[in-house]
Amino acid sequence: MDGDTQTIEYSDQDAISLDEMSSEYKIKILVEENKILKRNLFEAQNEIKKYKIVPHIMAKVVDVVDSDKAIILLNTGKFYVNISEELVGKIKRDDEVFIEQKSLTVIGKRGKSKHFDVERYIIFEKPKVSWSEIGGLDEEKRDLKEVIELPLLRPDLFRKIGITPPKGVLLHGPPGCGKTLLAKAVAHQTNANFVEIVGSELVQKYIGEGTKFVKSIFQMAREKAPCIIFIDEIDSIASKRIELGTSGEREVQRTFMQMLAEIDGFKPLGDVKIIGATNRIDILDNAVIRPGRLDRLIKIDYPHKKERLHILKIHTKKMKLEDNVSLESLAVRTKKLSGAQIKTLLVEAGYFALREERFKLNNNDLNRALSKIKGHDKKKQLGFYA
Ligand SMILES: Nc1ncnc2c1ncn2[C@@H]1O[C@H](COP(=O)(O)OP(=O)(O)O)[C@@H](O)[C@H]1O
Ligand SMILES: [Mg+2]
Repeated sequence: MDGDTQTIEYSDQDAISLDEMSSEYKIKILVEENKILKRNLFEAQNEIKKYKIVPHIMAKVVDVVDSDKAIILLNTGKFYVNISEELVGKIKRDDEVFIEQKSLTVIGKRGKSKHFDVERYIIFEKPKVSWSEIGGLDEEKRDLKEVIELPLLRPDLFRKIGITPPKGVLLHGPPGCGKTLLAKAVAHQTNANFVEIVGSELVQKYIGEGTKFVKSIFQMAREKAPCIIFIDEIDSIASKRIELGTSGEREVQRTFMQMLAEIDGFKPLGDVKIIGATNRIDILDNAVIRPGRLDRLIKIDYPHKKERLHILKIHTKKMKLEDNVSLESLAVRTKKLSGAQIKTLLVEAGYFALREERFKLNNNDLNRALSKIKGHDKKKQLGFYA
């Protein structure tokens, strides 16, 4: 924010009027301009075409007759229809096809994804979080390194000593204390692919498709190994409290069973590791943490004073503080705040300074931000926020 922005100023003297140009140069400019206009016209025409397209009907092929006729299923019933010439021989039973509205001719086929479209929803990424960006949690980092990092980087050691490394860990503890950060840091450190599934989303978004979805994720992860599957809010699919009353609940249960089956592995997981995370270990189904599953539990708790100081230092690295600001003192006063809240506090303090057009934070900014955050916390405890 404080760097000088460079501005380039043009004076009137630099501009050349069209009259002063040589005619050869003028022609060049006009030709270029013409090209641009033609391209714009082409794009506009294409856009108009899109609006004019008549939508096709989607249908399922029940049967193919004589290779150029098909029986298709629409919600109004079954129809015996033609298959357009270029698709003869290419349509099979159960294909999803596009149907022309008037004649009901099969004119296109929907491509089938090997992974039931999982690619459309799920991103495999290579996170950039490094261990040094995570304040405190020294023991927890060490545990994770032993359980996930070492087996991925040095599988030979485990073979030599004759032990099978764990398949995964469960990180548990209050929100905002670094569970996601840690999972990403392990992936970064091992150069593994990272994929995040959020339990509650699995329940809400993929109704009826949960088990297929889980299967696909594990299959893709095996293909992309080394890979870390991060299952956040794992309690949403693996809760003791689920009663199998409604079909939705049964669906969640089936998804959960599929997940366990994948972890137990029929097909070896190899360089695929699983990190589960939950804020609600109290309601988590014990099946998740049985031996051979996510049997290492690592608690990620609120940071203590020394850890808070570390987190404050990390998040103020790029900020400017007045000389008399003591992070030590702030660390003492931020008891019971999570890493995420500490970060929010600093951002809030930044806004207080910004409003007064200052770029250095002072004690007053930090104090005001702290009472704001603590106020929020109080209201939360009193049930003001869900
Ligand atoms: N130990 C920590 N060190 C540094 N930043 C932290 C720490 N814990 C939390 N944060 C900050 O809070 C944000 C949310 O943390 P996150 O890992 O998503 O928490 P959780 O997954 O436990 O709910 C992080 O992106 C980071 O900015
Ligand atoms: Mg998280």
